[in-house]
Amino acid sequence: MTESGRLLYVIVCAAGAARDVGRLVALALDDGWVVQVVTTPSALEFVDVPALEWRTGRPVRSRYRRPDEPKPPRADAIIVAPATYNTVNKFAQGVADTYALGLLAEAPGLGIPVVVLPFVNEALATRVPFRRSVESLRAEGVHVLPNHGPGSPEPGLAGAGDGDGDGNRENDPWALALKEISRK
Ligand SMILES: Cc1cc2nc3c(=O)[nH]c(=O)nc-3n(C[C@H](O)[C@H](O)[C@H](O)COP(=O)(O)O)c2cc1C
Repeated sequence: MTESGRLLYVIVCAAGAARDVGRLVALALDDGWVVQVVTTPSALEFVDVPALEWRTGRPVRSRYRRPDEPKPPRADAIIVAPATYNTVNKFAQGVADTYALGLLAEAPGLGIPVVVLPFVNEALATRVPFRRSVESLRAEGVHVLPNHGPGSPEPGLAGAGDGDGDGNRENDPWALALKEISRK
């Protein structure tokens, strides 16, 4: 919790859909969240960092702090969107080799609710390791939404608007993730 409200961490992975994460940020701000964007190191190249910083009023973070830097405030809730095959598998295994994964590694133990919105292509989503990771995360209380990657039966980014926070929330995976985290 910050002075201005509940703090939502949006963790962005290096999937093509990351370019549209401004949509999720705008919806969350509209709903009254304070939003902190964290990207994996690879995802930094997929997002418009200045635009996200302007929108949230907070620096986009992608690396662990230096030991002499102050500790950032703890998240009240976390959405991982888009979540890649790589990050979903590493999260399930407890790997913490990036700042984003470090936050996720601690979240279940701290009781911080986490919603994961996978964007994984069909070839990877059908792999046993990925299906096991999803099962194992769900068993730990992590809310993993259906995969919205290419070839999945889900509606993908159809109806997801233009990133300005307007448009129809129905069939919008970003709005779905936000709805689920708001229930926690
Ligand atoms: C243009 C592009 C689009 C990609 N889209 C996806 C995607 O939708 N889902 C996915 O799991 N990986 C995707 N990848 C592969 C990931 O970027 C790669 O696995 C990376 O290691 C993920 O790192 P991260 O999980 O730390 O963000 C994409 C790669 C490129 C170059």
